[in-house]
Amino acid sequence: MAILAVCGVKGGCGATTVAASLALLWQRQQRPVLAMDLCRQNLLRLHFGMAWDEGDGWRSRLDAGADWMRAAWEVGDHHLTLVPHGRVEVDVDQGEPQGDDWLRDELALLEKQAGQRTVLDLPARGVAERQQGLNAANHALVMLSAEPASCALLEMAEAELLASGLPSERILFAINHFNPLRQLDGDVELMLRKTLGPRLAPLPIHRDEAVREAFAKQRPLFDYAPESQAADDLRQLATWLSVRLDADRGGA
Ligand SMILES: Nc1ncnc2c1ncn2[C@@H]1O[C@H](COP(=O)(O)OP(=O)(O)O)[C@@H](O)[C@H]1O
Ligand SMILES: [Mg+2]
Repeated sequence: MAILAVCGVKGGCGATTVAASLALLWQRQQRPVLAMDLCRQNLLRLHFGMAWDEGDGWRSRLDAGADWMRAAWEVGDHHLTLVPHGRVEVDVDQGEPQGDDWLRDELALLEKQAGQRTVLDLPARGVAERQQGLNAANHALVMLSAEPASCALLEMAEAELLASGLPSERILFAINHFNPLRQLDGDVELMLRKTLGPRLAPLPIHRDEAVREAFAKQRPLFDYAPESQAADDLRQLATWLSVRLDADRGGA
């Protein structure tokens, strides 16, 4: 089973938006998808129209000694299962009483369907759930924003992922928030492309107001603005990733 960890070199690069988009696009291709939110902000669910005040999630179920998968929601038809993080009252790092490989072991136990993909929305560095996600994943997609900071953070991000045991060829990258009118965005893209070669998605995701509007309306971008630039970019990214995940199938 392909388990893709989506993370950013820093906050705000679009990891949650892209994780939700990939899950939705693959669902619409009739693929079974499990989307799991490992972030305490608990935002992934809002991309799927879940009620604002719904606080249930895997974390509180696990902490209560219950079956965490009972927090799963079926989204749309039966192809997409969403596991929200759930509301947390106190945002303190309490360590991982379950051990760093808890998630990897749990996902390995789940019933697998042919062609299934798991998409993990990872939190920022330094949060314990990030390590859980990296240990469970067999591929990673690192989101970079089109700004010089991404170049500065690249090496650190890659070192972290390699240290989690992911081989370099399974660490993939994509640029987000790209504005073609800004010279610097183009320069950053060029530099990243030179450094990352074929591991960087061929097309960046453009900064597009439709992304924020769709989120505000709690509607999938692909329904709210199917013809938008970002919707098109995300569809291209999903296809590019599909080829890579399928090529490695069976090896993980
Ligand atoms: N391509 C884009 N164009 C415009 N806004 C975007 C784009 N991608 C993400 N956003 C917005 O940027 C903000 C951060 O995105 P988010 O996915 O939450 O990032 P992260 O999970 O990496 O912190 C959100 O308000 C989101 O709607
Ligand atoms: Mg996020």
